[in-house]
Amino acid sequence: MRNVDSTRHVRGESLFVDDIVSPQGTLYGYVYYSSIAHGKILSIDFEEALHVHGVKGIISAKDIPGENQIGGIVQDEDLFAEEFVHFIGHPIALVIAESFLQAHDAAKKIKCVFEKLPAVFDPREAAEKGELIIPQRIFELGNINKAWKKCDYIFEGTVENGGQEHLYLETQGSLAFPIEGGGIKIISSTQGPTTVQRTAARVLDLPMHKIEVDVTRLGGGFGGKEDQATAWAIMAALAALKLNKPVKIILPRQEDIRITGKRHPYSSDFKIGLTKNGKILAYDVTFYQNAGAAADLSPAILDRTLFHCTNSYFIPNVKATALSCKTNLTPFTAFRGFGGPQGMFVIESAIYKAAKELGIDPSEIQKINLLKEGNEFPYGQKTLNCNIKKCFAGVEEKYKPEEVFDRIREFNSKNKLVKKGAAIMPVTFGISFTTTFLNQASALLHIYTDGSVSISSAAIEMGQGVNEKLRIIAANELSINIERIRIDSTNTSRVSNTSATAASKGTDLNGFAVIDACKILIERLKKVAADELKLYKTSRIVLKNEMVFYKNDKTDLTFTKLVNIAYQKRISLTAQAHHSTPNIYFNKKTNKGEPFAYHSYGVGIMEVTLDCLRGIYEVDSVKVVHDFGDTINKTIDLGQAEGGIVQGIGWMTMEELKWNSEGKLLTDALSTYKIPDIHAVPKEMKIHFLENVSNPFGPNNSKAIGEPPLMYGIGVYFALMNAMR
Ligand code: MTE
Ligand code: HPA
Ligand code: MOS
Repeated sequence: MRNVDSTRHVRGESLFVDDIVSPQGTLYGYVYYSSIAHGKILSIDFEEALHVHGVKGIISAKDIPGENQIGGIVQDEDLFAEEFVHFIGHPIALVIAESFLQAHDAAKKIKCVFEKLPAVFDPREAAEKGELIIPQRIFELGNINKAWKKCDYIFEGTVENGGQEHLYLETQGSLAFPIEGGGIKIISSTQGPTTVQRTAARVLDLPMHKIEVDVTRLGGGFGGKEDQATAWAIMAALAALKLNKPVKIILPRQEDIRITGKRHPYSSDFKIGLTKNGKILAYDVTFYQNAGAAADLSPAILDRTLFHCTNSYFIPNVKATALSCKTNLTPFTAFRGFGGPQGMFVIESAIYKAAKELGIDPSEIQKINLLKEGNEFPYGQKTLNCNIKKCFAGVEEKYKPEEVFDRIREFNSKNKLVKKGAAIMPVTFGISFTTTFLNQASALLHIYTDGSVSISSAAIEMGQGVNEKLRIIAANELSINIERIRIDSTNTSRVSNTSATAASKGTDLNGFAVIDACKILIERLKKVAADELKLYKTSRIVLKNEMVFYKNDKTDLTFTKLVNIAYQKRISLTAQAHHSTPNIYFNKKTNKGEPFAYHSYGVGIMEVTLDCLRGIYEVDSVKVVHDFGDTINKTIDLGQAEGGIVQGIGWMTMEELKWNSEGKLLTDALSTYKIPDIHAVPKEMKIHFLENVSNPFGPNNSKAIGEPPLMYGIGVYFALMNAMR
């Protein structure tokens, strides 16, 4: 159950972009960017910078042969600013030199004169001015206006959530070099190689077939490289084409924090109505998403906020309104959970407020409103194989919340300066890209004559273990030793038109494609075996444990022998397969459909201890019952759960982005932006894998796990709130 990458990482053998041996003569790029949040570029002078020793050139908007446009969903983002700058960090030029330090020094000599324009940083202020990225979106179920009258209690409130810096260990980077015939090869730390390829084609005015993007692995992405790896990849490509030299860009840590996008801060209003029994009858919520200065993935993220605005609860009357507000901050982007956490935080805040006013524990409201089989979400999909109640029951049985709450009450009554608190956090997360067409992937599988197997797919390995999961899936399907199988880099020339590895769908989509490719090869190999064994049909032939079986009897044909016979008979040992998720759809006009292949479920209980005198706290425990389906690799899934939880705790408790009144990010270093370290990790973490929950919609009956556990972090916030109360 070990992940091959672990050994390589520990030994320092894994190759990241900056480790890949650079071609001779590689030059280094440094991004020169706007120092003001909004303004007009009056003049720009590169003269002095160009004379710095080692400088080979400076490229800017006027050097772009194609379109100066990198926007994916909305075409509203230039690669290099032309007349106007819209945020601090807005790229203006790329300085290219023989060394990084020379490029960095030269950038300081660029003289840019701006005329400052008024800037907006607050999403509500932007909304008031009509500065929206897309028209507002509304999801509705039932009729809230009628429902209020039936409510015994109605509570209202406002919720703010901050953003979050990804802090992937490997900063953004790329290496590009010219190839024969005017093409370009780009090695990029991206979750979306096709996004890089497609956008590079547009900017460089080249056909996509002249651009090859290759990705070995990422030192973490967490959504931060779904869209935002593209700019640096294209800048390197542009410089490489222009100078006919290899060009590398690696963002230094502080620059990466300053100029790349983060999780979206939101400001939200809620109104929740309940019966005296605690049933939630109506929920009205408005989300003001701070999108930053360009759309990036904000519209899709806004949608996922709406999809998850009722979290794990059935609420018969819902109106959820979402506004994507344009401000003068670096465009915010995907981050684990993709808008879902922001939506869930507001409903949990509403429940917390209601419980507080009613003098009961929030878990009482949570429990009686949990989704049941067949309940409808505000987007029209009904629950199927709904396991949220099973998870809740599992938490009750294993971790005894009543006893926890009693123990805490007892502790708190005896301690004045130290208080404990606990909270329960259910998580229901829809699995599929909410942009339906992205739910596709392909795999290319080669069997070589020595019996070794190479697999290429659309999946990007970023630490989440997708490569190891694909190996397990293929080894299982081909019934061969896993050591035979290697996952090759993700490459746009081998696997085309890929979706980014995101939405927790990496293993699902690519795993199914790998299974299909294996099946094609097995069928071919069985025919070869039938021929060899002088049989008419393949129906009683089975490939098992590296051997050919006929009618349950082992023949003397081994896997390698069979492969060689196939080769001698001139049978192709390569297969390609494409997979697309069946039956999902979503109508963006009515906002109804069945966008998700299935849902991921889990419930956690968290305990904290708060030192009221010093204002510090510890997370004592996070205990979870989670539905992993049939896990493909328990170690990897456990790592995803634990890592997600800690990242969620970081977002909810200690990480804080601060900008000054000019829109300059103040928390741009590890000294000012605190992420969880080993001391902030819960002292005890128990992750129980819910039993007997085989998932028919996942490969090998597994379930996606990448994003959902992050949202358990929300529970830690409420445990702290309870401790403070
Ligand atoms: N785990 C590690 N170690 N590193 C990462 O960058 N990204 C997360 C999650 N887990 C990430 C991670 C995010 S945002 C997603 S969408 C999924 O992994 C993507 O991979 P998957 O689809 O294979 O689960
Ligand atoms: N998750 C992640 N990325 C996406 C999605 C999603 O649901 N939709 C479009 N891009
Ligand atoms: Mo994950 S935020 O979908 O890359």
